[in-house]
Amino acid sequence: MKLFLDTAHLPDIEEMVAWGVVDGVTTNPTLLSREEGDPRELLVRICETVNGPVSAEVVATDAEGMISEGRELASLHPHIVVKIPMTIEGLKATRVLSREGIRVNMTLIFTATQAWLAAKAGARYLSPFLGRLDDISTPSMEMLAGLLDILDHGDYEAEVLVASVRHPVHVLEAGRLGAHVVTVPPKVLRQLVRHPLTDIGVEKFLQDWKKVEARMQQGA
Ligand code: G3P
Repeated sequence: MKLFLDTAHLPDIEEMVAWGVVDGVTTNPTLLSREEGDPRELLVRICETVNGPVSAEVVATDAEGMISEGRELASLHPHIVVKIPMTIEGLKATRVLSREGIRVNMTLIFTATQAWLAAKAGARYLSPFLGRLDDISTPSMEMLAGLLDILDHGDYEAEVLVASVRHPVHVLEAGRLGAHVVTVPPKVLRQLVRHPLTDIGVEKFLQDWKKVEARMQQGA
């Protein structure tokens, strides 16, 4: 399963790319709104930092506007993937852009059938939102399982890019179900790395090694 970072905060991206585990980045208008400066310039800097796909979302709501914005976003950098919401106008724009060779990530997907239609329209990535379903007591993993099942029975190029990830169990379950990509906020990635028993184990090893060093000092 590929791991993307769900953020536009360049310091976090730079830090976590150095961990050797990041395959791409997803952004959206909300994430970009939290950063300073020109969003287009920031997107280019993110593309230059990550050796992988970087999703950048259109804000137009009509197909013509999405197509125009999508072409402009795609021209920023070869790593750019154009993010388009799963609407009727979004399907129209996805069909046009994908036929021009522009990669599209259809986002704000909440049902298996929305994902199926997005794949049929030519989307390269499909972004089902887990957290926002769980927030309204709708089991996100049941949706994801059905989504993957439908796609498995067809010959679609699209990869399932699980989004709206709120905690490590979302990542674990998405991986077990066979999602192709999971995009996680930096906070969740830090949670994925850390375990108290690892910290306790490191501390114990260091303490015991001090006994070795003391013994070597005595023998010196
Ligand atoms: O990539 C989509 C993600 O940023 C949305 O997350 O937590 O706002 O549902 P959230």
